[in-house]
Amino acid sequence: MFIDIVRSRKSCRLFSDVPLEDGEIDLIMEAGRLAPSSRQLKDVRLVPVRDEGLIRRLALCKDSSTTPLETATFAVIVAADPDVCDVWIEDASIATIMMQMEAEDLGIGSCWIQVRLRTGNGTPAEDFVKREAGLDGNLKVLSIVAFGRKP
Ligand SMILES: Cc1cc2nc3c(=O)[nH]c(=O)nc-3n(C[C@H](O)[C@H](O)[C@H](O)COP(=O)(O)O)c2cc1C
Repeated sequence: MFIDIVRSRKSCRLFSDVPLEDGEIDLIMEAGRLAPSSRQLKDVRLVPVRDEGLIRRLALCKDSSTTPLETATFAVIVAADPDVCDVWIEDASIATIMMQMEAEDLGIGSCWIQVRLRTGNGTPAEDFVKREAGLDGNLKVLSIVAFGRKP
């Protein structure tokens, strides 16, 4: 039952080094893509990150609370275009949790890493993430979701 998945999900901040399978990543991405969005404007951009070097660098985007990115084997940057939809934060948040619930259903751990409104070394965490990941200038970054196998 879905409620069992809801009950079992807990933020996971330490992952084993066994990578996710391609099929698992595909399902997580599909869950995010199928998330409802305001007026179906499709303003959310989900950026998969499989490069562990990049995932580790993203852990430096803000001053604290990024430990899950130190061991995650997969991550998704959740961004959106505010010019396309004014309620992009809601759309991006729904996509984030949909991916986390799909991961839980697969027995995969996850954690939401907040980027919006956070800073690192006095500069916006979002700027760091966009620069490292090469994202378009007008995109806003809500979060990074860290994924990996539970230890
Ligand atoms: C909007 C939001 C922002 C969050 N940001 C972070 C974060 O930056 N780093 C982190 O380790 N956990 C983060 N979390 C995870 C929360 O700390 C966690 O969901 C909460 O403590 C409840 O624990 P649970 O997920 O195990 O039920 C965030 C969760 C939400 C919903």
